[in-house]
Amino acid sequence: MFMQTLPGFRDFLPEDCAKRNYIFARWREVARRYGFVEWEGPLLETVELYKKKSGAEIVDQLFNFTDKGEREVALRPELTPTLARVVAAHEREFKKPLKWFSIGQFFRYEKQQRGRLREHFQLNCDIIGEAALAADIELVALCIDVLRAFGFTERDFVVRISDREFWTDFLRERNVPADRWDEFLQAIDKFGREPREKTAEKLDNLAEPVFATLKSGGKSEKLGKLVDALRGRGLADFVAIDIGIVRGLAYYTGIVFEVFDRAGKFRAIAGGGRYDNLIAQLSDGAVSLPALGFAMGDVVLGELINEIPHAREAMQEAITIDRKIDIYVVIAKEERRADALTQVQQLRDLGYGVDYPLTPTKIPKQFQTAEDLGATIAILYGDEWPQVKIKNMATAQQELLPHDRLLAHLQALPSLSS
Ligand code: HAM
Repeated sequence: MFMQTLPGFRDFLPEDCAKRNYIFARWREVARRYGFVEWEGPLLETVELYKKKSGAEIVDQLFNFTDKGEREVALRPELTPTLARVVAAHEREFKKPLKWFSIGQFFRYEKQQRGRLREHFQLNCDIIGEAALAADIELVALCIDVLRAFGFTERDFVVRISDREFWTDFLRERNVPADRWDEFLQAIDKFGREPREKTAEKLDNLAEPVFATLKSGGKSEKLGKLVDALRGRGLADFVAIDIGIVRGLAYYTGIVFEVFDRAGKFRAIAGGGRYDNLIAQLSDGAVSLPALGFAMGDVVLGELINEIPHAREAMQEAITIDRKIDIYVVIAKEERRADALTQVQQLRDLGYGVDYPLTPTKIPKQFQTAEDLGATIAILYGDEWPQVKIKNMATAQQELLPHDRLLAHLQALPSLSS
């Protein structure tokens, strides 16, 4: 019996790693295109950090333990509390607004199911220090463009946008005390995902007005402006106002959004919103800055890429190109191995991807490996020495060349750019 991974954890075999790198590369490229800079926090934090403001659901899902110094610690389930902590401590060092992104792994002790594991990777993009709606618009546009970079169109996904203020106004008008808002918001967030009677029970005498509002749709001037601005950028077809989106995390204060596949097959691909009070709450009022952000997970995104043919093909193509090596060195005569390896080193120093057989191997097998590795050319070291034979793997054309002219010759080849 082989030992297995823990439930909800993944091994990343080379093919899986290639897919993951493909996702990370797109994430990084689009975040940079929007002027975001990369940062990172620790994987382990105090449990306290999440207890303060993430909300009961995430605290229940913590991977936590007592460390050898008797500290109550947890593997990070999300990045936002860490970001708030870091920003509060270093705020003076940076001009506002901060536009930061991060790619990292997160851990939640969830029931394993389709699209939900116990570890996953997220792209987090956050803007700190800007209260204007312009920042919300920019963030939603970024989220859309990240997904467009995978080849998805408005037929493949939709960003459902809402405003928590709509619901907090609703609760205030009905004299619900502020310390109970969280409980109601959590119940509204779960509407549609749990039986209606259960939501009704939680909402008590507010159940009917909440259900009626969800049905009629509710209006918000702010959301209207946001959609208009996205229309100006040609992105309105990617969004829909949906006040049923509340978000499970407790710290959101304003515009919130979640991204879903159009077919409604998967769980949320991404989610985020404004959390204008979190930095002040985590720093006991020492630093107060408005903030907003979103996170996109790799698990559902990976499923959607597999589901949509053009996205899947784009990924396969990119992975295949990425994996190719430039040159395979065929050692046809073992007496030439030392000469061949001298040139392997020189070629690698020039930046070419070069491979060769570590031990004596039959020539046809070496050419097969060259093909399997997607080599552009093969260079054969054998009886022709001090000449070497160069084979173009795509056309099968061969030519002989004195070995001391090899490097200059290769550098002039358009099909090989190091
Ligand atoms: P979240 O909605 O909890 O938000 O997670 C963001 C995304 O991470 C989800 O839409 C989903 O794709 C992915 N995800 C979450 N949990 C799992 C899981 N167990 N397995 C697989 N994928 C998962 C946040 O984490 C907020 N901190 C986002 C944010 C950033 N808000 C402001 N800035």
